[in-house]
Amino acid sequence: MTDSGNPAGDEDLALLDELICERTGISFPEQRRYLLHARLQSRMSELRLATLRDYYLALRFGDPAEFDYLVSKIRNGETYFQRESGQVAAVFEEGLARIKAKLGPIPELRVLSMGCASGEEPYSIAMYASSCRQELGQSKLQIDACDIDSGALARARQGIYGKASLRSVSQACVARHFEPAGGERFSVRAPYREGVRFYRGNLHELQKFVPGKRYHVIFCRNVLIYFSPGARRDALRSLGERLEDGGLLLLGMTESAGHHRVGLRRVKIGDCLAYERAD
Ligand SMILES: C[S@@+](CC[C@H](N)C(=O)[O-])C[C@H]1O[C@@H](n2cnc3c(N)ncnc32)[C@H](O)[C@@H]1O
Repeated sequence: MTDSGNPAGDEDLALLDELICERTGISFPEQRRYLLHARLQSRMSELRLATLRDYYLALRFGDPAEFDYLVSKIRNGETYFQRESGQVAAVFEEGLARIKAKLGPIPELRVLSMGCASGEEPYSIAMYASSCRQELGQSKLQIDACDIDSGALARARQGIYGKASLRSVSQACVARHFEPAGGERFSVRAPYREGVRFYRGNLHELQKFVPGKRYHVIFCRNVLIYFSPGARRDALRSLGERLEDGGLLLLGMTESAGHHRVGLRRVKIGDCLAYERAD
């Protein structure tokens, strides 16, 4: 599928894919490039741009806001409360004891939710942690939640959700953690908002934000599956560098840092797979 069905259109589409990957890590392999093409075309007609090459030049050399807008259209933001909740349980019930055995008491347990989308993941972590007072002991929980998409972050800060986001949550849990916000919408209760801070950040440029900060636990779930293999490798390496000694990195249940040589070692936490720094 091309601009005009010709190879030049294919080339321009490849250039656009390359630019997006260079700046965000997100990549559309050839079999999914038609999706990118469809999204580009709808934006191009809004902007009255005739060719993919025109849009490529506008993105590369024009207003950075246009690039951000495009990212908001091509990203996959699918998420919901208590997604892959076994991993969160494993971190608090087993991982924490392991980290504390290495580091001793931790006054502030620093957690990063990278690719937090509209906030369901970090709030789910905060909600689960509230039932783990014994495991947390004196540790105060601090969750940094980052995403590249500012629209998703605005929804996260608002903290009001509908049915789709709550599809895996029991009614009892909804009653405990949310208050009614009108219609079929529910607002995250204040105690679970405290300690969750949202930041705009690009995983592909991790070194540029929260300089030097290290985390005891990093969740980066269902984000790297959309990255090119090279960008995935770089991201895994940077995430590893952001782990505290003995800290744990969790990827999505179907993802693996696998054979990439990125300085990480696989560890089992309960029934779940996690990674720690290999050095
Ligand atoms: C499918 S959602 C996953 C949300 C959540 N982690 C979960 O597992 O439910 C992927 C998120 O990653 C974000 N993302 C993609 N590339 C990113 C990047 N380079 N830096 C930061 N966030 C990124 C997207 O904007 C999107 O919100």
